[in-house]
Amino acid sequence: MTILVTGGAGFIGANFILDWLRGCNEPVINLDVLSYAGNPENLASLQGDSRYTFVQGDICDRALVDSLLATHQPRAMVHFAAESHVDRSIHGPGEFMRTNITGTFTLLEAVRGYWSGLAGEAKAAFRFHHVSTDEVYGSLKADDPPFAETNRYEPNSPYSASKAASDHLVRAWHHTYGLPVTISNCSNNYGSYHFPEKLIPLIIANALAGKNLPIYGDGMQVRDWLYVTDHCSAIRAILERGRVGEVYNVGGWNEKPNIEIVKTLCALLDELAPSSAGSYARLITYVADRPGHDRRYAIDARKIERELGWRPAETFETGIRKTVEWYLANQAWVANVQSGAYREWMAKNYAQR
Ligand code: NAD
Ligand code: DAU
Repeated sequence: MTILVTGGAGFIGANFILDWLRGCNEPVINLDVLSYAGNPENLASLQGDSRYTFVQGDICDRALVDSLLATHQPRAMVHFAAESHVDRSIHGPGEFMRTNITGTFTLLEAVRGYWSGLAGEAKAAFRFHHVSTDEVYGSLKADDPPFAETNRYEPNSPYSASKAASDHLVRAWHHTYGLPVTISNCSNNYGSYHFPEKLIPLIIANALAGKNLPIYGDGMQVRDWLYVTDHCSAIRAILERGRVGEVYNVGGWNEKPNIEIVKTLCALLDELAPSSAGSYARLITYVADRPGHDRRYAIDARKIERELGWRPAETFETGIRKTVEWYLANQAWVANVQSGAYREWMAKNYAQR
């Protein structure tokens, strides 16, 4: 038995693989192109581990995907690979359309060919799990109920539109060809190996470097934060017990405005890594808003709890403390990912704000 993971060198994929191999001995093949967000260092602890195979390659490369399926005969594919940063999708949407839409289409076609050739129990047990986002549902007003699986799709950014398109492809491949798929739409993750272009790791990295902490707009946009290993356990539950063709929303029941997140991080850093210049909160700087910025996301995670018995294990208080401690203990990792390309991105995204 083997599983094939795409995008496993990124933030959530790497946490998923590390978690998977901590919990069982089923081998993992990781197909990742190593874009700016992919980092083999995330999986350095698996070097020499015979249960783990890394393949550098593009999910749009049909011949490569076909050959991996034929060689490794996986019983499931878990599809994380994507362009994932909303701000980058605003500056340059093209790569999002290629990876998130064409890449998902390529995988679905390759998997359809492979799955059609399976027989008996192997065919019945095979799963294609698509990892998606709550952003496909658009933006909530302050008093709207959280997103249920039945909410209509109203993606607002190039990123969320490309993820919405990929969700529709996965759904259609199930409906038309009977491909045994499942989909999860998850809220904002945080935790170890989170690339420091996203809010939480960016704030920690900037604070420690004595740089401004940029708050888009009024800082009152709300996200529903989930510790990354809870997302991993939700995906495992869906793979094991999820119903074919179903969508599961995954979230932390933990809505918070951005400014509160940033103040919490400053307080934790004041406690764990105090600065002689005073509280890190002095660095908070309001900057120009993200165009089309969604005001609020929140997930109704009752379906996955009811059907699969999944609930998050971490509270925000335990998860955020673990996260800050991880970044403090892994500053070499942060320094390594802050390459030339990272600096160019920071200049492009923040210079005009
Ligand atoms: P990430 O940007 O950290 O990692 C993406 C990974 O995909 C990288 O390793 C990258 O090299 C790889 N990749 C990109 N293009 C590729 C291609 N063409 N072929 C092969 N590999 C490619 O992303 P993440 O935050 O880990 O997100 C993983 C998935 O989870 C994405 O599908 C994202 O939409 C979804 N998601 C993320 C969050 C979140 O809060 N980060 C929440 C919900 C859903
Ligand atoms: O909701 C799930 C989504 O969460 C995932 O699908 C995406 O892949 C993931 O990147 C994340 O998207 P967000 O846009 O919500 O995450 P980000 O960390 O970029 O921003 C979180 C909030 O913080 C958002 O309201 C924008 C704001 N922000 C972000 C940055 C980078 C700031 O105020 N300042 C910043 O510098």
